[in-house]
Amino acid sequence: MGDIVLEVAVHEEACGADRRGAVERFEALRRETESLTANLTAEDQSIQSMPDVSPTKWHLGHTTWFFETFLLARFDPDYRVFDPAFGYLFNSYYEAVGPRHPRPERGLLSRPTVDIVMAYRDHVSSAMARLIERVAEPEWNEVVTLFELGIHHEQQHQELILMDIKHVFSLNPLLPAYQAPQLQVQVQATAHPLSWVDCDGGLKEIGHSGTGFAFDNESPRHKIWLEPFRLASRPVTCGEYLGFIEEASYSRPEFWLSDGWATVREQGWEAPLYWLREGEEWSVFTLSGRRRLNMAEPVCHLSFYEADAFARWAGKRLPTEAEWETAAGDVPISGNFTDRGHFHPCADGSSDAIPQLRQMYGDVWEWTASPYTAYPRFRPAGGAIGEYNGKFMCNQIVLRGGSAITPTGHIRATYRNFFPPSARWAFAGLRLAEDFG
Ligand SMILES: [Fe+2]
Repeated sequence: MGDIVLEVAVHEEACGADRRGAVERFEALRRETESLTANLTAEDQSIQSMPDVSPTKWHLGHTTWFFETFLLARFDPDYRVFDPAFGYLFNSYYEAVGPRHPRPERGLLSRPTVDIVMAYRDHVSSAMARLIERVAEPEWNEVVTLFELGIHHEQQHQELILMDIKHVFSLNPLLPAYQAPQLQVQVQATAHPLSWVDCDGGLKEIGHSGTGFAFDNESPRHKIWLEPFRLASRPVTCGEYLGFIEEASYSRPEFWLSDGWATVREQGWEAPLYWLREGEEWSVFTLSGRRRLNMAEPVCHLSFYEADAFARWAGKRLPTEAEWETAAGDVPISGNFTDRGHFHPCADGSSDAIPQLRQMYGDVWEWTASPYTAYPRFRPAGGAIGEYNGKFMCNQIVLRGGSAITPTGHIRATYRNFFPPSARWAFAGLRLAEDFG
């Protein structure tokens, strides 16, 4: 009997520690999100510069709505909704949850004010801490699954906050800096020489397995067949991309996919987004303001069309997502993420030691050749949460590896980001691949 009492006590202590740990993670996440807005005025936080961009304030509200809707409203009978109107304002795309404010009109929401949105955040954050501590044990498993999703969802919006405010500031003739320049960024003036890493073909497996968190689109793990291939040891640099520009490649249709060529002409693209030309000099707009282009850093803010055209010009190709994932193998998940504070891709200043594949993680998301589709036997979750990823599996391309504005700890080898092929405001570049053997 004494043993049983002791076991129950130990179990409860372990559960309590689990829950305290969950509350701490949640509070750290919320602080991290809010810290991203510390330099932004209320005016900054209200602007929507294009339909794909959301105001900072909307991101703060929407990530809060996610916890309120999918956790508090379901699992806390005593929860008091902060404002019933917010369900309409801050629902992003969940048809099953109800109607919503049109996405292109989020910039019209001068109300609620930033102060009210922050009060909404505080209200929900307190209620979440209570829920985590008090929800009954039988419901805990379901709560913790949705809680993990909510954490990773808010991390995705941390990246979107930075992507979006950069676009907003880029359209202001004053070119405001989001943060002070990071001095160490410009020190590394040369890129590592490009080499090629041979990768075996054969029967391989990709996709998530194991117990850690992954989004549903990373599963199930499954077999794929690969022919032998080579992967470039690092991403394409600005200097290399400038070679593509200087050969007038933006006006040479032979390098472009049909849709890409149509988009280049329609949009008048002549360089990556945020590149600025003054005579023979190139500069780039960053989250630390405008500065001279560093030829050694990975090229960023390309559409899939531009990444693909560059690869054709170079006589290479983009890797498939399966090639990228199998090559990533045991490459340690470290790199230029948000903890470094640069918020911009950097030339690789690390030593020549292993891994052969450099900058696989962080710096720039890498466009792959793979359309974003369901893995074999994929089944989205039931209910509204099933809308998270599955319904976007059409007309988008997979990107891998994370970027300089991806939160540290958010990324995995199996992680599948996706954007339409014309999107340029993500921190996206490329790594070349080629066939061999
Ligand atoms: Fe969202």
